[in-house]
Amino acid sequence: MTHITMLGTGAMGSRMAAVLLSAGHRLTVWNRTSEKTQALENAGATVAETPKQATKNADIVISMVRDDAASEAVWLDAEVGALAGIKAGTIAIESSTLTPTWVKTLAQQCRVQGVSFLDAPVAGTRPQAEAAKLIYFVGGDTTAFAVAKPILEVLGGSIHHAGPNGSGAALKLAVNALFGVQLATLAELIGLLQHSNLDLEHAMDIITSTPVCSPAAKQAAGAMVAEAFAPMFPIDLVEKDFGYVETTAKQQGAAVPVSAHVRQVLQDAIAQGYEGDNITALIKLYR
Ligand SMILES: NC(=O)c1ccc[n+]([C@@H]2O[C@H](COP(=O)([O-])OP(=O)(O)OC[C@H]3O[C@@H](n4cnc5c(N)ncnc54)[C@H](OP(=O)(O)O)[C@@H]3O)[C@@H](O)[C@H]2O)c1
Repeated sequence: MTHITMLGTGAMGSRMAAVLLSAGHRLTVWNRTSEKTQALENAGATVAETPKQATKNADIVISMVRDDAASEAVWLDAEVGALAGIKAGTIAIESSTLTPTWVKTLAQQCRVQGVSFLDAPVAGTRPQAEAAKLIYFVGGDTTAFAVAKPILEVLGGSIHHAGPNGSGAALKLAVNALFGVQLATLAELIGLLQHSNLDLEHAMDIITSTPVCSPAAKQAAGAMVAEAFAPMFPIDLVEKDFGYVETTAKQQGAAVPVSAHVRQVLQDAIAQGYEGDNITALIKLYR
């Protein structure tokens, strides 16, 4: 039986850990705030006190934390970080949404210790994590990918190998930007239609039936009209990802003016106090 370690049991990590437990895997978990591991311990997981302790006997280590800084702390802290305790031959999987530059640095640190590294961020939010329907974008060598794939298949409905380390992270940022740009546009257009005194539900039924509307935008339109803002993909995390798009573009000498503008919209929403709301709450800016 594969021994898996999950570092980070926030909204996404806790759900992924629960799926791994349900599938019968031996699971060790660690989270910075220890209370968030209690339910998983009750369900059969072993709780570790540090990432170092959590990775000691692991075959596969998955990290699902907020950002580059959290990832660095979890993997590389000299005293308690995962790489301080990991054994050669382990596969390290970073599933957080991070910059390609950071995951390439981390991949190099892993290589030095004989650890294979995959950047494997996911599309899909809390319900998809619960239902094991995440979509994986994986960067890394094909041998490590082949070993990890059966575990990723426990958590995901489709697993894409994107290319070498950094490719998964780059694709994930592109997918999130495409999603965020659509939703930011949708929010302002719903506002425009409201101000134009149209029957909004009828107008949205028509718009979402056209080929220009993606399935994701259609679902979000329903949530915006119904004012469903319970956090799935909170505005705060979306803004973080758009920041990473801008940082990456700067590093690569690419231009992302539309993404930069959407980031500003997200920052406006944060300034209004909507940071913990779902991305569908962007509609609040235009009512
Ligand atoms: N929510 C989504 O829809 C979604 C979808 C796909 C991908 N993602 C990505 O998945 C990752 C996790 O998202 P989430 O929704 O699970 O977020 P979350 O609920 O806010 O959880 C964040 C996790 O990161 C940990 N963390 C934050 N800063 C840390 C630090 N400095 N050191 C150690 N741990 C730290 C938190 O620990 P504490 O509990 O101690 O705060 C928590 O375990 C993010 O990269 C996000 O962009 C999210």
